[in-house]
Amino acid sequence: MTDAVTLHVCTTCQGGETLRPGELPMGRRLHGAVARALAGTPGQAPVVELRETSCLANCERGCSAVLSMPGRWTYLLGGLSPAVAADLAAYARTYGESRNGTVMPSRRAATLRDAVMGRVPPADAVAAGTAEGASARGPAVTERAA
Ligand code: FES
Repeated sequence: MTDAVTLHVCTTCQGGETLRPGELPMGRRLHGAVARALAGTPGQAPVVELRETSCLANCERGCSAVLSMPGRWTYLLGGLSPAVAADLAAYARTYGESRNGTVMPSRRAATLRDAVMGRVPPADAVAAGTAEGASARGPAVTERAA
């Protein structure tokens, strides 16, 4: 288990643009801009591991990304663009500092107030029955092979 925040950025998102030959998808450009933003704050905690991913099934809502970390809610973000890269990097660190991944809109940059498209409870907390404020809504039901 790692204490790092994982930030997956969809590099196949086109953000509603029609690509010209040789032009990078907006998601690829967002990934590069986030990498530069994180590189501008080396050694800052919590660590944010930036990763690429392909389609997050959120294509109709602009560029997309996912924030995740063990024991915390996982957040699907949309409506992103390279212009919000620094704000996204800062949000990832605030997410990592939070107790369960919840970062209220008032604690995010104005550019990201409407960026949350959905969230998923932490699977590890569900299994342990310890998901305070997240998923402790009843006992786990485990499917067994017949
Ligand atoms: S291509 Fe990025 S969410 Fe589908």
